[in-house]
Amino acid sequence: MKNKHEKVEKSVGLFFIFTIFAISIGGLVEITPLFFQKETTQPVENLRPYTALELEGRDIYIREGCNVCHSQMIRPFRAETERYGHYSVAGEHVWEHPFLWGSKRTGPDLARVGGRYSDDWHRAHLIDPRSVVPESNMPGFPWLAENTLDGNLTAKKLETFNFLTRNRSHKDEDGKPIPLYSAEDIKNAKLAVKGKTEIDALIAYLQSLGHALK
Ligand code: HEC
Repeated sequence: MKNKHEKVEKSVGLFFIFTIFAISIGGLVEITPLFFQKETTQPVENLRPYTALELEGRDIYIREGCNVCHSQMIRPFRAETERYGHYSVAGEHVWEHPFLWGSKRTGPDLARVGGRYSDDWHRAHLIDPRSVVPESNMPGFPWLAENTLDGNLTAKKLETFNFLTRNRSHKDEDGKPIPLYSAEDIKNAKLAVKGKTEIDALIAYLQSLGHALK
């Protein structure tokens, strides 16, 4: 065989195997370091865990499919940072389970919507978006103002987040991990949400978005 390269190019099987091999090396070189870099595995300095109410709001956000129309990921381009604020960094999201970055923007990105509008604005907007943004095509979610939370699962949710983030929480001076939620947080979780409406929880969640990096 004079030309070995020709052999590879003319054999689909061989070409396939070598292509996969080449791409895997590229992938490994790019992806592996991300598991070890502090920047991508450790929380940014001002990151605080969601409160019990915010965490319930986050679950409602997922249940209602808000993430299908809204991303939470500001890309590092001028057009994005001028509209939404500082681009998103990995350290803001290390405690998210599941991630809600999204990929579809029917509506605006919400990564830094916290503090941009008043609670009253959000309430009016969520119940009937066109009452505050006449040209809006976002659906209304009026039932959120009527449903109340019983808080039966809230403590369990906090415990679950402690478990999921056990390797990525803040550390004390001796390098020991500080759990996201203390025993007291967990004990008080049910009372913190019981009787609140779903819209209260969702608004608390929205107002917390982007708090760590403005
Ligand atoms: C069908 C797509 C769609 C869904 C589902 C949806 N939205 Fe929207 N949303 C939009 C559009 C379009 C806008 C822009 C018009 C407006 O402000 O109403 C918007 C705007 C917003 C804004 C204002 C953002 C800003 O910076 O002005 C917030 C906050 C928001 N949505 C929250 C939510 C929440 C919370 C949910 C889930 C309960 C949700 N949206 C579900 C499409 C959607």
